[in-house]
Amino acid sequence: MRLLRALLRSVSPATIPQQVDFYCRFSPSPLSMKQFLDFGSDNACEKTSFMFLRQELPVRLANIMKEISLLPDNLLKTPSVQLVQSWYVQSLQEILDFKDKSAEDAEAISCFTDTVITIRNRHNDVIPTMAQGVIEYKDHYGVDPVTSQNVQYFLDRFFMSRISIRMLLNQHTLLFGGKVKVNPAHPKHIGSIDPKCSVVEVIKDGYENAKTLCDLYYMNSPELVLEERNVKSPGQPMQVVYVPSHLYYMVFELFKNAMRATMEHHADRDIYPPIHVHVTLGNEDLTVKMCDRGGGVPLRKIDRLFNYMYSTAPRPRVETSRATPLALSTESVERLPVYNKSAWRHYTANHEADDWCVPSSEPKDMTTFRSI
Ligand SMILES: Nc1ncnc2c1ncn2[C@@H]1O[C@H](COP(=O)(O)OP(=O)(O)O)[C@@H](O)[C@H]1O
Ligand SMILES: [Mg+2]
Repeated sequence: MRLLRALLRSVSPATIPQQVDFYCRFSPSPLSMKQFLDFGSDNACEKTSFMFLRQELPVRLANIMKEISLLPDNLLKTPSVQLVQSWYVQSLQEILDFKDKSAEDAEAISCFTDTVITIRNRHNDVIPTMAQGVIEYKDHYGVDPVTSQNVQYFLDRFFMSRISIRMLLNQHTLLFGGKVKVNPAHPKHIGSIDPKCSVVEVIKDGYENAKTLCDLYYMNSPELVLEERNVKSPGQPMQVVYVPSHLYYMVFELFKNAMRATMEHHADRDIYPPIHVHVTLGNEDLTVKMCDRGGGVPLRKIDRLFNYMYSTAPRPRVETSRATPLALSTESVERLPVYNKSAWRHYTANHEADDWCVPSSEPKDMTTFRSI
């Protein structure tokens, strides 16, 4: 009898589409940096986190699952996208199993934290797997402007949604997953957030690690010239509330690109111009501007740099430097995709031909063009 009741209570896989339809009607609740900090610092309470997450995670998952289901059929049916979809289904189901649990049930709360860890690990390889799905689709069906536009729209939202979900999962596990709430390596951090993230230190760290790789590969590397301007608090060290690992990832990728371009462009001269970085903290935003003398990218190809479907790399990767705004005050709020009618229209609208001219071939000789 008890077993039967337990079985009836758990969410059956068959009802998942209905659950997605139900939860996608709620809008995700974007959290502000201040909310993340307040929650983590004073009265971090596993019970409150449990009650928030068991509602918010299904909402965020269902909103993006709805968009996955609207992908072009041929992309949706690739084994890789099917695999990603199955992870989302499984995770949604596991969270929904806690729907009726009492917040006073200590065992359930501790079990929930284990589930959060399981879910985070399950989704570790979502990015390369999704990229693999896009490659499989591209190999079979090629690229057309409409699909490319849809995939671009979808992936920007999908990755943003994933970052936001992982942020929630990470905060919960960092605060409640271990025996102690404080990270011994970074006692002042609130989960993954550093309330006094030293921007310049993180940038230098990214430079040093990219430099190590560059030295190994090219036996040399460009210097770093860093200029900082603190407009917000002149004369003070530049500190912001931020997730240092996110900042590190962005600048590390940019440094690797800048170094490779510099080393290849100046290979025959053996003198490598430095990489200039200007960091400016304004009243609202932080700007990190990186400038190299690696030859640049022709304007004609600039759009491609941000287009997932045109990437030439063997294993596509995600360009986060543009997708993730460097909003840095405690006022800054998560930017989350929501599934609604206008999102739906993006996938279902009957697109006609591209409304911009596409040159039939690349110009062979730009000088001829310029002299006209
Ligand atoms: N700083 C740069 N200078 C010149 N070309 C660049 C620079 N950054 C990126 N690129 C070009 O853009 C391409 C895509 O960069 P990226 O998305 O980082 O992929 P990857 O570095 O794996 O090739 C690079 O292969 C390179 O041709
Ligand atoms: Mg790169």
